[in-house]
Amino acid sequence: MCGIVGYSGKKSCLPILLGGLEKLEYRGYDSAGVAVYDGSKVKTVKTQGRLVLLREKLRNGLPGTCGIGHTRWATHGAPSDVNSHPHGTDRLTLVHNGIIENYSELKEELTQKGYSFISQTDTEVAAKFLDACYDGDPISSIRKAVSHFRGSYALAIIFFDRPNTIYALRQGSPLIAADTEEGSMIASDIPALLEYTRDFYLPDEGEILEITENNIRFFDSGGNPAEKKKVTANWSAEAAEKGGYPHFMLKEIYEQPEVVSLTVKTYLTEKCKLSEKPAKRILISACGTAMHAGIAAKQAIEELAGIPVVVDIASEFRYRSPVFCEGDQFIVISQSGETADSLAALRLAKKAGIPTIGLVNVQGSSIAREADHVLYTYAGPEIAVASTKAYNVQLAALFAVSIALAVQNGRLSEEEADWYLSELAAMPEKIKKVLALEKEVAEAAKRFNASDHCFFIGRGMDYAAAQESSLKLKEISYIHSEACAAGELKHGTISLITEGTPVVAIATHPRLWEKSLSNILEVRARGGAVLLVCQENVPVPEGTADILLRIPSCPPLFTPMLTLPLMQLYAYHSAILRGCDVDKPRNLAKSVTVE
Ligand code: F6R
Repeated sequence: MCGIVGYSGKKSCLPILLGGLEKLEYRGYDSAGVAVYDGSKVKTVKTQGRLVLLREKLRNGLPGTCGIGHTRWATHGAPSDVNSHPHGTDRLTLVHNGIIENYSELKEELTQKGYSFISQTDTEVAAKFLDACYDGDPISSIRKAVSHFRGSYALAIIFFDRPNTIYALRQGSPLIAADTEEGSMIASDIPALLEYTRDFYLPDEGEILEITENNIRFFDSGGNPAEKKKVTANWSAEAAEKGGYPHFMLKEIYEQPEVVSLTVKTYLTEKCKLSEKPAKRILISACGTAMHAGIAAKQAIEELAGIPVVVDIASEFRYRSPVFCEGDQFIVISQSGETADSLAALRLAKKAGIPTIGLVNVQGSSIAREADHVLYTYAGPEIAVASTKAYNVQLAALFAVSIALAVQNGRLSEEEADWYLSELAAMPEKIKKVLALEKEVAEAAKRFNASDHCFFIGRGMDYAAAQESSLKLKEISYIHSEACAAGELKHGTISLITEGTPVVAIATHPRLWEKSLSNILEVRARGGAVLLVCQENVPVPEGTADILLRIPSCPPLFTPMLTLPLMQLYAYHSAILRGCDVDKPRNLAKSVTVE
């Protein structure tokens, strides 16, 4: 949440800053701003709203070769010009990603010293607190200031008495740096810099960076110079482009056969075992879509490997008093590897001495660096705010893990495991078949689009799929939607079903088909309009559904890998029909680095 960029080099920095911000806009789009040193002073231009408005404001350019930029997801203070970053004083300016939790305490202290404030942001407080600490030595002043900050932050700062140098640091929020032929750069995430390089420095928490035209120096939290090695990202610059699709979301939906195939192939070669000794119990913690992948994994691990699994929402897990047992293993799932609550859940498990595994998509992310063991997914950069391909590769990886655990536990023979793995390897071709149904899905979305409500029902894996399908629909189309375990419907939710209420019934599991069918008929009896998703070759009695969509047959445990592409397209078309900005849904941002 919030994106920051910085550049110091020989080139004009404005196009580089704006290009970088465009790649980071998925992190927040409430406002945008830049500060650029033009040779005599540092000029700031900022505005509420999307980056296009900032571009418009800057249409006459802003000369200079050193600058910082920001795209905001509002936390403290509404989206407005005055709350936009950069914030500063007459001695410095800075941009910030994260939250300074004790900002009101610091503000009080500063007010007593005579500082006044024009915005409602914690960032202005951070800037003024740094100003109060500034003694002409940036490194020691930054160290002094941040020793008073509580919360998570990544900061990029220009001191006006060193206007060609950027100082930066991270504590709990992401930041990468690169020295390229064009100059030195920093950014919140890899896509912002992919056009220039694939080799990055990953600053450690508390390290301070000094970024000049042809050098980046690192100082550890004690203020001593630190050595840093680069890591190479396995993403291409094209992967962060729309590639002819109208939206990143649609492109990413269509990338699923390829990225699932890549992920499955990697897992087949690596024969993923979580540890030498099988876990007695597995705890999974994650947020949003990643948590929904965890819910599906629970069923696969329990059914195949017979290991009990507890799935927890990371923001709940971290503030409960979770009970850990001997033999527990902890899996945190995260596309970005930076989600604040997931990271905190991981740290909690580590503190309890539980072996931890991070399933992440972004190399070098905080979770990847902190987990004892990392399993990667190979989705490439996911830019659309709504997660699509990342979910499917998480499923692919987690199913491969479930199979490996089952072999380790003696619940599957090598032959049985090979059968499951060959079925997993066949999924990409089946996903392609599902994607070929886009026209029918678009028609279905049209048919149900007039209603402001939608219910998703399913049992077992279909309930897991229903939860993720419902999230997809509501987050991008703003249609109120709810997922309900099909058998639970009659315990309350069915009272909301009236004539024409859209109900998406996911019933792909042969063993549960008859049970699901009864629930669908209960819905029909109340006038509900049913979109039924089932496997091919299942005889569906006349009149069961208003719309029928069939997925290719596959092992019941794997069905969410096919149901979701269908439902992602359903959400996409529902949102398009309502004129929504599918890549940047209101109030949301990707990579939730605040609590
Ligand atoms: C929904 C969505 C979010 C994320 C959640 C976790 O489409 O994208 O619910 O899944 O914020 O993000 P990661 O996986 O980056 O930890």
